Amino acid sequence: MTSLQQGPAVDLYLDVMAKMLTRYGFEGRNSTVSFPDRSFESYLWNLVRMNTKGRDIRVVEAGGFDAERREVGRDWPADAETMVGLKRLANVRQVLESVIADDVPGDFIETGAWRGGTCIYARAILAAHGVTDRTVWVADSFEGLPAPDGRFEADAGDQHHTKIELAISVEMVQDNFRRYDLLDDQVKFLKGWFSDTLPTAPVEQIAVLRLDGDMYASTMDALIPLYDKVPAGGYIIVDDYGAVKACAKAIHDFRDERGITDEIHEIDWAGVYWRKS
Ligand SMILES: C[S@@+](CC[C@H](N)C(=O)[O-])C[C@H]1O[C@@H](n2cnc3c(N)ncnc32)[C@H](O)[C@@H]1O
Repeated sequence: MTSLQQGPAVDLYLDVMAKMLTRYGFEGRNSTVSFPDRSFESYLWNLVRMNTKGRDIRVVEAGGFDAERREVGRDWPADAETMVGLKRLANVRQVLESVIADDVPGDFIETGAWRGGTCIYARAILAAHGVTDRTVWVADSFEGLPAPDGRFEADAGDQHHTKIELAISVEMVQDNFRRYDLLDDQVKFLKGWFSDTLPTAPVEQIAVLRLDGDMYASTMDALIPLYDKVPAGGYIIVDDYGAVKACAKAIHDFRDERGITDEIHEIDWAGVYWRKS
């Protein structure tokens, strides 16, 4: 059993990590531009990307840093390791500290990691509290989202798979962990589509399950194999509940089917969580 470390050093480290990982207050001069789906600009931009394959080329808009947006993860930062914003990182800290304090067994897993920032923060929280017996699992295709495969009507027409900005290689994510001296054997990567990797993933128990795969299928493909690995007292966080209707539908379909009535708590405009009873 590990007890929570208290004191200003822990708060200072975790606060500065959250600010760095979101570039809160740092990334004042630019944010990545994305064009509306099927627009002429998006067609042109994809053409440019195809012809510069393998190079990290972006359209970046010079502009003022918007603290309010970054706080609640409303923009896609050009350089930050996470897009979830400060509030949702604070929620990760709150629930991880809660399972440590209450001795709820299990690991942290995020299904949908992008540049890895939320998982890096989870690893930093474990490090700050001297926790050595919990792993951070980073599950992602590292190739972006899958195209809708026809299994779920709720995903019909979903365009997330066209967003090449969401395809971040596992090597880049590992480099991001290394940048903060947090890549070690308490971090494990599950590379591939959730439907392939999660049913057989060697994860025994999950104290915090963080779903961030945007689509109905990606939410279900994580919940179905992983939910029963969360013990009573563990947490389920849903990053896209308020942002993607199909994701909220997956959550309600799953909860209805399983008779789950644990109260859903709001984190910000997008994220919610519940604690398993
Ligand atoms: C919105 S991003 C995650 C943001 C991230 N949690 C952060 O802290 O910024 C969604 C991620 O989910 C991954 N993803 C979505 N559906 C997936 C699936 N079915 N299988 C594997 N990866 C998936 C994408 O590759 C992408 O990296």
